[in-house]
Amino acid sequence: MNNDANITWHEHSVSREMREKKNGHKGCVIWFTGLSGSGKSTIANTLDHMFHKDGFQSVVLDGDNVRHGLNAGQGMLNDTHGEEFSKRFGLGFSAIDREENIRRIGAVAEIFTQTGVIALTAFISPYRIDRDKVRNTLKEGEFIEVFVDTPIEVCEQRDPKGLYKKARAGEIKGFTGIDDPYEVPLAPELILLAAKKTPDILADEVITFLKKKGILS
Ligand code: ADX
Repeated sequence: MNNDANITWHEHSVSREMREKKNGHKGCVIWFTGLSGSGKSTIANTLDHMFHKDGFQSVVLDGDNVRHGLNAGQGMLNDTHGEEFSKRFGLGFSAIDREENIRRIGAVAEIFTQTGVIALTAFISPYRIDRDKVRNTLKEGEFIEVFVDTPIEVCEQRDPKGLYKKARAGEIKGFTGIDDPYEVPLAPELILLAAKKTPDILADEVITFLKKKGILS
């Protein structure tokens, strides 16, 4: 039986302050949001490389990768409880599944933040309310929403996985930007014009912001 009264919160004995002091930077979530093919993962990985080079602690959580593991789809789960397990816990792209996708990632990113790591997340995260819920699990300043603002025409032209083509042909239903919504952030910490600038320049824009906010010194 799952009874909250029987679950006790444990303070970690290695404190966040100790970790942050050792790392030389603060923990935070850099939440990239934007259409498929907008450049979220590329920018996140560019930053991850830069951080690694500087000896910082960072991690990339990326939609396509996480959907192979933690948030695998129904067809990908093969548990002892079979189909029922898969139906209950496998995630697809309906609004409710995307909500759960973002909730789980938000929870993971929050753990990284608490341990002084810079979590770089690259999910379409099309719904404002889902992104705001993650923001609300964190302290002021820890959730940095970065809108990767690439016009759909550019994303569609890039079409790195051939999915826009499939969506236009009706082979994929509910594809973000084609026949599913994307809610533009109303007050993101940063907007990156990813159709016009290189990943290195965009990564530098993020770093400038982090320095200004005292997350990096
Ligand atoms: S999110 O909407 O729940 O945040 P997420 O970022 O995890 O999406 O996954 C998006 C990736 O899944 C896309 O880059 C694309 O490769 C793939 N994908 C497959 N089906 C869809 C769909 N219906 N809509 C958007 N992306 C899809």
